[in-house]
Amino acid sequence: MTGPAGARPTKPAAVTTTGAPQGQGLPQLWMPYTQMQTAAPPLQVARAEGVRIVLEDGRELIDAIASWWTACHGYGHPVIREAVQHQLEVMPHVMLGGLSHEPAQRLAARLAAILPGDLDHVFFAESGSVAVEVAMKMAMQYYINRGERGRTRFISFRHGYHGDTLAAMSVCDPEEGMHALFHGALLPQHVIDLPRGAEAVAAFEALLERERTNVAAVIVEPLVQGAGGMKFHAPKDLAALAAACQRQGVLWIADEIMTGFGRTGSLFACEQAGVVPDIITLSKALTGGTLALSATVARRHIFEAFLDADPERALMHGPTFMGNALACAAAHASLDLFEREPRLARVAELGRLLCQGLEPCRGLSGVVDVRVRGAIGVVQLEAPAPSAFFTPRALERGVWLRPFGDIVYTTPPFTISDAELGRICETIVAVTVQWSEQARG
Ligand SMILES: Cc1ncc(COP(=O)(O)O)c(C=O)c1O
Repeated sequence: MTGPAGARPTKPAAVTTTGAPQGQGLPQLWMPYTQMQTAAPPLQVARAEGVRIVLEDGRELIDAIASWWTACHGYGHPVIREAVQHQLEVMPHVMLGGLSHEPAQRLAARLAAILPGDLDHVFFAESGSVAVEVAMKMAMQYYINRGERGRTRFISFRHGYHGDTLAAMSVCDPEEGMHALFHGALLPQHVIDLPRGAEAVAAFEALLERERTNVAAVIVEPLVQGAGGMKFHAPKDLAALAAACQRQGVLWIADEIMTGFGRTGSLFACEQAGVVPDIITLSKALTGGTLALSATVARRHIFEAFLDADPERALMHGPTFMGNALACAAAHASLDLFEREPRLARVAELGRLLCQGLEPCRGLSGVVDVRVRGAIGVVQLEAPAPSAFFTPRALERGVWLRPFGDIVYTTPPFTISDAELGRICETIVAVTVQWSEQARG
């Protein structure tokens, strides 16, 4: 290959060994959860503003998903934009090792102040999966530091999803989750049904008692198991689970990466059950969906187990971009919006509108459930709902919808108007009717 002097030669377009074009016109960009040989090319986004995604071809879509549940104030909110711009002029990022800064310190203090109980010790990372890895490591080391070396296993729940890194994968649903392929390669964990009712809680507690010398922690998504199927459980089930952990002296981790920051109707889902986990993980809406940031927050007794003259008892973890100042500035602005604007009241209204708007799906042939919690609306079908059916039909109606598994769902930005939410609900109903008619043949 030759090229102009000093310039890098141009590579030929990539092809697979079968000769098929690779990546459907995207030879370099490897897309998530995507079979690159067969997938339709993704939609090209030109910009996003408020609750709308504008495509390069000029189409405008109402976002029913809020970019994987992150954009709780919509896109490009001026308060967040200004905060990030200002921070960029001061300092985009410095390593947190040996150095610290006001945006990270004050954000840690703010999170400690709004989280329940003595969840006061905040460790930042840059993604939800890493926050889960850190939580698992913290739980294991908590016991190691106390001289209990065998406590390395975790208990998690079917339909649970905690991320795509290796330890996080090990606590996801091994059968139905997207990590079934790695069965046998992951750390062995106890993945059980989420206990509901006295008998199930007694069985759960018996497991905790039997395994208490092996188990470091139970990990659960409080009230809503998100990416594993948008399954809901009642606050009393969460409270019973927490009480059993406490009685048996086993730590429990609340993974609020999806539920945190208002999505279920309270700032944190745990509040609805009146429980305080030993460790909580946060991400997604922490920065209003603007920048990558996550936090693993520990209660005082966890943090204190790491305090010692011996450096080996410290938490040996430190993501390069932890506490990124731009992301912290975005998080401050997002928290300001939660303080200043009636976000949680709006989530309650959105819940009522979703109940009304999705109700016509109930009773359709092929629909097994319609459920709403906070600003999460779910239509569950009796068979997997291919995106190939729903997404293009929703696009025709100007709505961005992306079903997975057997559910069609919406998790809109909290700033959405009644009319825009109405459009989402009408779209879900109309396309589900089409699906149902097709399924009936
Ligand atoms: C409950 C929960 N935990 C962890 C994660 C992983 O977060 P990330 O994709 O930022 O790694 C997700 C992502 O959807 C999640 O919903």
